[in-house]
Amino acid sequence: MNEKLDRRDFISNMSIAGVSLAIGMPQITFGTTTDSKPALLGGPRAHPASFPSWPIVERPEENALLEALRSKKWGRLNGRAVADFEDAYKNMSGAKHCLGLSSGTSALFTAMGALDIGPGDEVLIPVYTFVATYNVVVLNYALPRFVDTDIESFQIDANQIEKAITPQTKVIMPVHIGGSPADLDTILGLGNKNHIPIVEDACQAPMAEWRGKKAGTLGLTGAISFQSSKNLTSGEGGALLTNDEEFAESCYNFHNQGRHTSDPNDPYSPTRGTNLRLTEFQGSLLLAQMKRFPQQVEHRWENAAYLTSLFNEIPGIYPAKLYEGVTKSAYHLYMFRYDKKEFQDMDRSVFLKALAAEGIPCSGGYGMLNKEKYVTDLAKNKHYLKIYGEKTMNEWLEQNYCPQNDQLCEEAVWFSQTMLLGTRQDMEQIAQAIQKIRKYSGDLKKA
Ligand SMILES: Cc1ncc(COP(=O)(O)O)c(C=O)c1O
Repeated sequence: MNEKLDRRDFISNMSIAGVSLAIGMPQITFGTTTDSKPALLGGPRAHPASFPSWPIVERPEENALLEALRSKKWGRLNGRAVADFEDAYKNMSGAKHCLGLSSGTSALFTAMGALDIGPGDEVLIPVYTFVATYNVVVLNYALPRFVDTDIESFQIDANQIEKAITPQTKVIMPVHIGGSPADLDTILGLGNKNHIPIVEDACQAPMAEWRGKKAGTLGLTGAISFQSSKNLTSGEGGALLTNDEEFAESCYNFHNQGRHTSDPNDPYSPTRGTNLRLTEFQGSLLLAQMKRFPQQVEHRWENAAYLTSLFNEIPGIYPAKLYEGVTKSAYHLYMFRYDKKEFQDMDRSVFLKALAAEGIPCSGGYGMLNKEKYVTDLAKNKHYLKIYGEKTMNEWLEQNYCPQNDQLCEEAVWFSQTMLLGTRQDMEQIAQAIQKIRKYSGDLKKA
């Protein structure tokens, strides 16, 4: 499997990978042990079955979509489904306000819009994230400042945030990567101390918890994504959560062309905004999927805990650490580090290939975002040069250095959330596959 396979492609190809890898395998033996040869060397696959496919489509989804279709009210300004979904999500998350949006990116963009982030402002973001976190900053011509990664948790290194704060810092945007909350005690403390709002990118973390509160509800606001790969999905879609009434109203207006209501006779004068509304089809689908969501959250959590207990027995495999006792991950991803020293110096690329051959879809996760040409070219961007000047942009480039993240990007391995919806036996077979690969790593290196 491609080491740098995009997370979305990786998840959508997952169930196919499980099947297609079976083709050409001479023998499929259930209950393979660590004694048998790795599949890449002609042995039986450790995981012969497929993992659950995604998304789940059953009668509730079909009924919900038909109902929305037949209602002839397809937009939120005419129908009820989006508003009902917002109410349901509000209740589930404990947030005072929930606003449905067309995507997670739209949710973050709306937060930026409501906060009036623009040229000259700086936004602190983690470097280990999906490019959308970065895009919503540069789309507003604000300056993104990367903060390095804590290699043990895969989260933003909260101890490095303070030194990145300047008088221009207008937002701190932690990302709960993989669905596990970043260190919110430290981040919220810094926000309070410096009067900087915290916008949680909780796109991967619906229903994750920090000290019993849901991720996305602890900062000023939090963005959730319902894109196809996500734990709760409507193909595309997103939401913003907040407990701040005034902010909620600004976000509503921003996503609705700056208008509070669709009534043309309303005396309210519009403000700056755009159209980022969720449709009634998406709202209906989400309402249907939400019924099984809490049970799926527990299922992923239990399997992830079991997998971690199995991985703790394997030298060289280090599961991403959770902030013990205060956090509950949504497990959008199961992430771990692969230390090749414990695998006879076998490259991660061979490890990923061997694991995929065992019937275990996997990916090497994110590349080094701060080193992407698209990102480094910002220093030469004509608008940025006009707004910030050459000196600032050159300094920005020089400070764009995240050594911990560089190391993580070379060691990370990801599994998708759908694998955690499998059985305990699936988890055991994943661990067996890795044990087997480890035992034969000398041979695999040569193959
Ligand atoms: C961390 C992070 N932020 C933002 C987004 C953007 O969400 P969407 O794809 O719904 O626009 C995603 C989704 O992939 C994400 O993983």
